[in-house]
Order: sequence, then structure tokens, then C-alpha cells
Amino acid sequence: MKTQIKRAAITILASFFCLHVYCQKESLIIKPGATWPDTEGNHINVHGGGIIFYHNTYYWFGEYRLPRNDMDRSHYGVGCYSSKDLVKWKNEGFALQVTDDTTSLLVRGCVIERPKVIYNKKTGKFVMWFHHELKGQGYRAALTGVAVSNTITGPYKYIRSLRPNAGIWPVNFTEEQKNATVKASDLKSGSDEWKKAVKDGLFLRRDFAGGQMARDMNLFVDSDGKAYHIFSSEENQTLHIAELTDDYLNFTGRYFRVLPGDSNEAPAIFKKNGKYFLFTSGTTGWKPNPGRVAVSDGLFKDWTPLGNPSRGTENENKTTFGSQSTYVLPVEGKKDLLIFMADRWIPENLADSRYIWLPVEWENGTPIIKWYPEWDITRLK
Ligand code: DGJ
Repeated sequence: MKTQIKRAAITILASFFCLHVYCQKESLIIKPGATWPDTEGNHINVHGGGIIFYHNTYYWFGEYRLPRNDMDRSHYGVGCYSSKDLVKWKNEGFALQVTDDTTSLLVRGCVIERPKVIYNKKTGKFVMWFHHELKGQGYRAALTGVAVSNTITGPYKYIRSLRPNAGIWPVNFTEEQKNATVKASDLKSGSDEWKKAVKDGLFLRRDFAGGQMARDMNLFVDSDGKAYHIFSSEENQTLHIAELTDDYLNFTGRYFRVLPGDSNEAPAIFKKNGKYFLFTSGTTGWKPNPGRVAVSDGLFKDWTPLGNPSRGTENENKTTFGSQSTYVLPVEGKKDLLIFMADRWIPENLADSRYIWLPVEWENGTPIIKWYPEWDITRLK
């Protein structure tokens, strides 16, 4: 009898152990802010990035930053990693790299930031857009670049860089705004008059002929297959949402000013139950600031600010948990799981910057973010 009880106890214990091991094997743990080794053990290097899901695999594209000791500046461009489960990532190498060709705008020494890739069902091509600054010009050029590839991991063929929508007014710009004559040199920068003039398109008019500035950016493909480029324009004071042509390689000329004069960057857009939501940050360089979120019934309709999405300590809310938004990822097969992806920048060694991934939660229809030192993708639906 005793032996039987012993055997039963051993069997129960063994089953618990197996269940425990099974559960552990199945969990997919995200650790926001920790170093995140790829399958070769190196910290993942795709900052300011975004993710696309294609053929049952996630592909993460972002800025491949030079590790502190890497003096070879040709190792710079857009990195790509692939994963089946969003936790284990394999380095797929460079999707786009700077060149030694001094006649190319992509010459080594230029800046490539916040690259995003979308797939065009009609052409069967993958299209990458990125923020592009020219060699030796700091952040003055404010261009957006486009590259294309037949395969998802690339290498992508660089097409050109440009300032969008030259000679075209946005759809939400009044005749009065078009005809205003006030110039930046007439106003004291930062004064109330300046702020009003900026809201009314001071910089948009200045850049009308040559094209609009395009810095921090994202891409969004709507349910009807139309794609949009969203970027910080007008000296980072106003975001533009600009429609892309059917092949996604150019702008159609239809564009909308979002939250004029509110100084937003790091746009990360998503759609939920027919509404469009937009996470952004303020503009404080690499230093984190309070995040923001806004909602609209349409990409080309007015946007309503919903305040700061962070729900943490005072300091966490002031810094978006020490991070800046970059993308919102809808997780395949999970009806409600959206991941807020952000960067915790380390300006002295950008390659070591950390990834802050947190599940988007909801509070009376507003998307919010809470801190979890670690969380399990498999536990969320
Ligand atoms: C803030 C932007 O969001 C980043 O992508 C980068 O451009 C830094 N500014 C540079 O200071």
C-alpha cells in the first residue's frame, strides 16, 4: 500500500514538473529595457524600427547603429531581423547600406533614421521609406528616402530622396492661410505671434516651392490597401500624413496637416475598431519626454489629442518609461494584442539603445501604456 502511495505521489510530482517545464518552454517573455540578444548572442541593432509580418514570419527593420568600437562607417544603414515568435530574432544582415559612391546621396556619413517597410500586393514588391539626412549637413536636409526590393530581406535598391509635395497645398489649408505674407524673420521665435503663425503654416508656405520637410516618420497601410507616409514636417512643428501612389514609391500630392503647431515627432499609428490612433512624442532630441496619443475618425480628418498615454510614476509619465515611440505592432492571431514599440536611446552609444515593448491597454477608449519589467506574449489574447 505504502509503495502504491509513494508511486502515486511520484507520478503527481513528475506531472507537475513536466507541466512546469512545458509552460516555461511555451512562454514568450519580453523584457522591456533589457539587452536583447539575437540568435548569435549580439544585442539586436534595429533602432527606430518597425515590423512587418510576411509568410508567417515577422521582419524587424530599423537603424543599424555603429557599435561604440566599430570605426567602419560603411557598416551603417538599415538592419533586418526575422522571427517566428517575436522573441528569438535572427540577424538577416543589412537591408540597405550606405555606399562609397560619392555621387550618391546615400554616401557614407549620411544619416538614415526610422526606416519602415511595407509590402505592395499589386506590384509584389517591398517598399522601404526612411528619414534621410545628408552627409555633413546635420539635420538640415530633412528628406525622406525610398528604396525597393523583390525580396523582403533585400538588399533594397535605393531610388531617391526628396522633400514631399513640392508646389502642393495640404487639403486642410484655407485660402487665408495660403495667402498670408508673414515671414519667420518678422517674428520672435517662440513668441505667441510666432506660435500662431506656425500653426497657420509659416514654414509650410516657406517650403511650398521646394517641398515639405520630412524627418521622424512612419508608414501605414489602410484596410483598402492605400498607403500613407506620416512625418514630422514644418521644422518639427506639424505632422503631415501624405498619401502614397498605388506602387507606394511616390506621393500622390494629397496630404493633411495633423495637430498643427503641436511639435510632435516619433509618430506610431494604428487602427482599431474603425478609429485611427497616433502615439507621438514631443521634440527633445534623444532625451525622452511625455508621450502623447491622439485619435481621429479618418486619416484626413481632424485629430483629437487624448493626453499622455503613460500610466506609471510621475517620472515614468514624464519620460514615457524612458523611451520614445517608434511603432505599434498588431500581433498575428491575437485579436486584441497591440504592442507599443519604443526606443530607450543611449546617445553615447546608439547601438546599445534598448527596446521598450509594452502591451497597449485601454482606459475608456483611450490607449494607455503601463510598465511591466517583463511580460509574456502567450498570456495575452
Ligand atoms: C529625435 C528623433 O525622434 C530621433 O529619431 C532622432 O532624430 C533624434 N531626435 C536626433 O536628435
